[in-house]
This record gives sequence, C-alpha cells and structure tokens, in this order.
Amino acid sequence: MMLKVYLTLSFLLGILLVAQAHGKEKEIGFYQLKRGDLKLNLTNYGATVVSVIVPDKHGNLDDITLGYDDIEQYKNDSWYFGALIGRVANRIGHARFTLDRHTYKLPANDHGNTLHGGFTGFSDVIWTVKGHKEDSYITFTYDSHDNEQGFPGRVEVAVTYVLIGRNKYAVKMIAKPVDKATPVNLAQHTYWNLGGQKSGDILSHKVQILGSKITAVDENLIPTGILESVKGTPYDFLKPRTVGSRVNELPGLYDVNYVIDGDKSRHLQKVVTVRENVSGRKLELWSNQVGLQFYTGGMLNATKGKDGAVYDKHAGIALETQGLPDSLNHPDFPSQIVRPGQTYNHYMLYRFTACC
Ligand SMILES: *[C@@H]1O[C@H](CO)[C@@H](O)[C@H](O)[C@H]1NC(C)=O
Ligand SMILES: *[C@@H]1O[C@H](CO)[C@@H](O)[C@H](O)[C@H]1NC(C)=O
Ligand SMILES: *[C@@H]1O[C@H](CO)[C@@H](O)[C@H](O)[C@H]1NC(C)=O
Ligand SMILES: *[C@@H]1O[C@H](CO)[C@@H](O)[C@H](O)[C@H]1NC(C)=O
Repeated sequence: MMLKVYLTLSFLLGILLVAQAHGKEKEIGFYQLKRGDLKLNLTNYGATVVSVIVPDKHGNLDDITLGYDDIEQYKNDSWYFGALIGRVANRIGHARFTLDRHTYKLPANDHGNTLHGGFTGFSDVIWTVKGHKEDSYITFTYDSHDNEQGFPGRVEVAVTYVLIGRNKYAVKMIAKPVDKATPVNLAQHTYWNLGGQKSGDILSHKVQILGSKITAVDENLIPTGILESVKGTPYDFLKPRTVGSRVNELPGLYDVNYVIDGDKSRHLQKVVTVRENVSGRKLELWSNQVGLQFYTGGMLNATKGKDGAVYDKHAGIALETQGLPDSLNHPDFPSQIVRPGQTYNHYMLYRFTACC
C-alpha cells in the first residue's frame, strides 16, 4: 500500500517535473552576451539578435541593429529583424521542389513562392536555450518535425552565438536531418545601421562585396539560373562605394544575391565590409557560404522600432550569407540537400572596429 502511494506520488511528481521543464523550454526570454564594450542582446523567439552595441571612434556606445522593444512586436514582425531564418532561407520558386522523385508542395507566402521557410519558419518559433554563459556564448536549439511547413523529415538545429576576443562574434549554425533527406539553408537576418539604429538611412554607408556575380532574377525575385557579372552595373561593389551612389539606377532598392568569389572549398572567406564615416565604425563579415543576400531595407516604411526609432526606407542593411536562392529548382547551383548522417554547417564571423 505504502509502496503504491509512493510510486503514484513519484509518478505524479515526475509528470510535474516534465511539465515544468517543458513549460520552461517554451518560455520566451532575453539573454545577454557581453565582453568589454561589445554587448549583444538576444531572444530565443526566432533565435533573434535584438541588439548589438559597439563603440564609435570616440568610444561612444550605440546599438547598431534594427529591432523592437518587446516580444509582441517580434511576433508581429514582417521584416525578419535580427531573426534566424530556416528551414530554407530566401525564395523557392512556385512553392515546390522535387527530391528523390517526390514533389513537395510548400506554403506560398510570397507571390506564389515560398519565402524564408514559409508562414511559420524558424524565425517564428520558440527555441530552447541549451547553454548560456554571459561572457562567452549562447546556444539555441530547435527540433523541427517531419512535414513542418511542408519540408521532409525531422531536423535537429543548433545555433550558437559566440564572442571571440573583444570585438568579434561568430554565428555557428548546425543542422542534422534525423530520418529523411531535406533541404537546409539557414540565414541570419540582422539589419545594420553603423551610425546607430536611430541615425536615419544607410545610403552614405560604404560597402565592399567580394562577389563579382549575382544570381539574375525575374520580376518575383526568382533566379533565372543565369549568374550575371556585376561589371558596369549598379550591383558592382567590388571596390568600396556608398550604397546611395547608384541606387537611383535601380527600381529603388538592393535585394540581390551575390555569388561570393574565391575558392568554393567552403573555408572561411571574406564576404563584405561596411563602413560609416561619421561614427567611424566598420563591420567585416567572413563566412563559409557561397552566397550573400544584400538587402538595403528599401521597403521599410514608418516601422516603429527600438527606443522610439522609426525605420523608413533604407534604415538598415541586411547581410545574409547563405546558399544560392532557389537552389532546389536549379540543379546546377550548389546543392542544399542534406541527408541523414550528414551535417549542415554554416559559419559567420563578424568583426567591429572604429577609427579616424
Ligand atoms: C534586451 O532587450 C529587451 C527588449 O528590448 C529588454 O527588455 C531587455 O532589458 C534587454 N536586456 C538587456 C540585458 O539589455
Ligand atoms: C503589426 O504589424 C502591422 C504591419 O505589419 C502594423 O500595421 C500593426 O500596427 C502591427 N500591430 C502591432 C500590435 O504592433
Ligand atoms: C562621409 O562620406 C560621405 C559619402 O562618401 C561624404 O559625402 C562625406 O563628406 C563624408 N564625411 C566625412 C565626415 O568624412
Ligand atoms: C508609407 O506609409 C505611409 C503611412 O502608412 C503611407 O501613407 C505611404 O504611402 C507609405 N509610403 C510608401 C512609399 O509605401
């Protein structure tokens, strides 16, 4: 009798503990990383970067990323401010693809195409905090189930933001399919304004992108399959120049994927440098990915952001390293298919300096 009561009690306690652990998993929180003058604020909602604070050339600290003050705004966001994008970042033409002779239909959330993982991609789910040390790193994990947003198989995803030295941080994105082959293409969608998130537009930011080709696209931004030289076009940022210098020759904005130059051995290589000359801040980004989506926030309009900021057209620059868009429907682009036993591995390294 006593034993039975004891067993029942411990069973109930067990359920309670599991329920509690589960509830805790699903709690949304804010987490800080801090070393010297470099400070990041993150949330497990979308594995999102909420703020990045770095000094300018006089040592004044400012937040240089766009974002919101509270979670409700993140849940209502349509710009992917700071978010981690998946299972497949960027566009998938006609919201479908074929893998191992099976055609998968996906949510069409962007002019008949799939954008950034569908209606509820990795940017709109609550991640688990797997480890956090304020002066060092935070790891978010997410277990994506079979058929989530139409994608095949279960995938275990881990994203780690880690401080390196006093002015660098890395983003390590890992994904492992458990039971089926699936496409994976993750991206980090922070918008930068090196003058400070309240400082207005980024047209005077000087940009250098080490990619001499872009993936040409149709009117819905789906790649045609042609890799076009940037030579002589407003897309040529091989030599540093300001975003504003040729933006008027475009239909109003930059939203384009570069093929990054250099060897394709997937070692770390320099992708882009951005400078802002009033603050003197410079951002450099290295990655092991073949592509960079370069978006200058041309569609932003009166969005209410952090600390009273209002983000209008060109308020920030997104620098999204990733595979080439719509690779699933372009067999000649580098494959984004990952099979059980294989690991998807995406590495980004940012360095922040300020001078002169
Ligand atoms: C992180 O950002 C959230 C939302 O703006 C804020 O409530 C929280 O205080 C911030 N945490 C730190 C340590 O700055
Ligand atoms: C949600 O976003 C829409 C635009 O995307 C905006 O019009 C609306 O005011 C937002 N709602 C809240 C509660 O912030
Ligand atoms: C900053 O750069 C802009 C654009 O290149 C230029 O017009 C301006 O004179 C520069 N200002 C300073 C303080 O260097
Ligand atoms: C920006 O938003 C305002 C207010 O919602 C609207 O009146 C205006 O037409 C929008 N501008 C553009 C370029 O979409």
